[in-house]
Amino acid sequence: MKSDAEPGRFVFPAWTNLIRPALAIVLVTLPAYLVALVWLGGSPKTTDVGYRPEQPVPFSHALHAGQLGMDCRYCHTTVERAAFAAIPPTQTCMNCHKQVRANSPRLLTVRESYASGLPIPWVKVHDLPDYAYFNHSAHLRAGVGCASCHGRVDTMEVVQQVHTLSMGWCLDCHRNPDPHLRPPELVTVMDWVAPGDPAEHGRRLREAAGINPSVDCWTCHR
Ligand code: HEC
Ligand code: HEC
Ligand code: HEC
Ligand code: HEC
Ligand code: HEC
Repeated sequence: MKSDAEPGRFVFPAWTNLIRPALAIVLVTLPAYLVALVWLGGSPKTTDVGYRPEQPVPFSHALHAGQLGMDCRYCHTTVERAAFAAIPPTQTCMNCHKQVRANSPRLLTVRESYASGLPIPWVKVHDLPDYAYFNHSAHLRAGVGCASCHGRVDTMEVVQQVHTLSMGWCLDCHRNPDPHLRPPELVTVMDWVAPGDPAEHGRRLREAAGINPSVDCWTCHR
């Protein structure tokens, strides 16, 4: 676009004349918008609750984590140490499925992946926007159970998202974590319930461990 501005100096091109008042309003009200957003508890949209993509293998958590009673960490090995909860490599499945149901057609994709060395193309269920930072290990160390955020995965044939993962959802718990705290060694026990009043039980755990979730913007936007 041709411009008569001095070199090196930025000017709005002429076509923005029409929208300049609108731009000004947006810029002037932006801080108020942010304050309102935070005050109201974040984005109102209920993101993807119930999202339940079809997976390339009919893998059932209800069977493996429920009926067979496998601990979440057998497969999601990094969840207590890292920000990210690893999805297991095909080798983990083949620890059993070399023998168990070794010829089942429902495991064909698993066997092919094992033979070719190419990973199974699992579809991601939960996905925060890149500008939001999340960390599993910090939550598990503090004693927030998997079920508090993912629901009863041990009863799901196909994993689905049960909470919004919106900023308001994060902040609700950061402001009042007590009802969600348990002894950290029990984070994967899916049917755990607090002995007595959950808020009171959690309050004692929080005070003993000095847990104090931050609501500062840079905790989650870095
Ligand atoms: C035998 C291995 C295995 C065990 C045990 C297991 N998982 Fe998984 N998990 C997987 C695989 C494979 C996937 C990816 C496919 C899928 O979504 O079903 C997955 C996906 C997930 C997801 C969705 C990840 C995403 O894409 O957002 C969650 C949440 C999850 N598991 C939680 C758990 C919890 C909680 C437990 C314990 C109660 C558990 N898992 C036990 C293998 C396992
Ligand atoms: C600790 C052992 C173990 C591990 C590890 C394991 N499974 Fe299984 N899996 C089983 C058992 C036991 C069954 C049930 C077999 C039966 O019903 O006779 C089963 C059944 C299945 C079935 C149903 C098979 C059919 O013919 O109906 C699928 C699919 C499956 N597993 C996928 C996986 C995948 C994918 C992984 C890795 C993420 C995995 N399993 C890891 C033990 C295991
Ligand atoms: C405080 C809430 C919270 C707790 C507790 C929690 N998760 Fe998650 N989980 C999340 C969020 C949020 C995501 C999406 C992360 C992203 O997209 O960056 C996620 C993603 C995942 C994924 C997909 C891989 C990944 O890291 O993005 C798996 C698998 C998973 N969680 C398993 C587990 C298991 C197993 C436990 C318990 C041992 C657990 N989670 C506890 C909130 C939680
Ligand atoms: C059910 C309760 C709960 C939910 C839901 C929750 N958190 Fe937390 N969060 C905590 C607790 C408890 C801590 C640990 C605070 C401590 O150790 O002082 C924590 C700590 C953190 C930390 C600090 C990690 C570090 O590096 O020290 C981050 C980042 C964080 N949460 C992000 C999130 C995000 C993003 C979400 C929403 C997607 C979320 N949390 C949802 C309870 C929760
Ligand atoms: C405990 C974690 C956490 C804290 C603290 C936090 N945010 Fe967020 N924020 C999130 C998550 C998660 C999302 C993404 C929500 C989504 O996907 O809808 C988000 C989204 C946003 C968005 C995008 C708005 C939208 O409509 O989706 C803005 C703007 C924002 N945050 C600003 C802030 C400001 C300003 C602060 C500090 C006052 C703050 N956040 C503190 C977790 C947090």
